[in-house]
Amino acid sequence: CRDSQIVVAIDGPGGAGKSTVAAEVARRIGGLYFDTGIVYRALALVALENGVALDDEDALGKLARELRIRVAPPSKQDGRLYDVWLDGRDVTWAIRTPEIDRAASQVAAHREVRSALLGLQREIGRSGRVVMAGRDIGTVVMPDAPVKVWLDASLEERARRRQRDLAARGVVVSLEDVKAELAERDRRDAERAVAPMRPAEDAVVIDTDGRSIEDVVRLVIKVIEERCACA
Ligand code: DC
Repeated sequence: CRDSQIVVAIDGPGGAGKSTVAAEVARRIGGLYFDTGIVYRALALVALENGVALDDEDALGKLARELRIRVAPPSKQDGRLYDVWLDGRDVTWAIRTPEIDRAASQVAAHREVRSALLGLQREIGRSGRVVMAGRDIGTVVMPDAPVKVWLDASLEERARRRQRDLAARGVVVSLEDVKAELAERDRRDAERAVAPMRPAEDAVVIDTDGRSIEDVVRLVIKVIEERCACA
């Protein structure tokens, strides 16, 4: 594809494979991968560290407006796809704990928080070739994105993947607990009043159950080729 500006929106629930797929698609099209979940995760970390209640919308909105987050190419080879810096501190792994999984979904439910973090996401989305992963990229953040994909998988499969990812980093949790956490997060993300998680009407839905990463990446590339008219 010769377009210098392409936005590929990849939305879906946690554990559906968005990160792995989006990072690989970005690599193949020579674009930037932006995992938008990190902005909510970073905010959740700051809130927990500063004792801000996760239901205090005003205080969270203020923190969100002050959030100074920087994403950079990976500085270490420890499985990370990129670095996340918060005020000069490397928080790449600190925002990947089960506690932050839960808190990020809670802070993300507030209107003030979402509007404070929208500009930052759009700015990156308009910066060239970008593959953005999240929950509301196709519906709210970049509704004009030419390529929209909704990645899904069964709760069982998503829980297995999440448990494996956590185990790789030495975090041991039972499959039942991971399943319960994922289901709770899905419910909160899908039922919130503002920017609920849902597929855009023009999104291509891909069920990743039983498909390899390579398979899914190829399907997404095919959608890009069709929608971007690049032959
Ligand atoms: O994709 P993730 O697991 O890193 O996302 C963490 C939380 O952030 C998720 O539970 C909901 C929220 N989120 C969101 O509301 N909108 C996005 N575009 C991305 C994430």
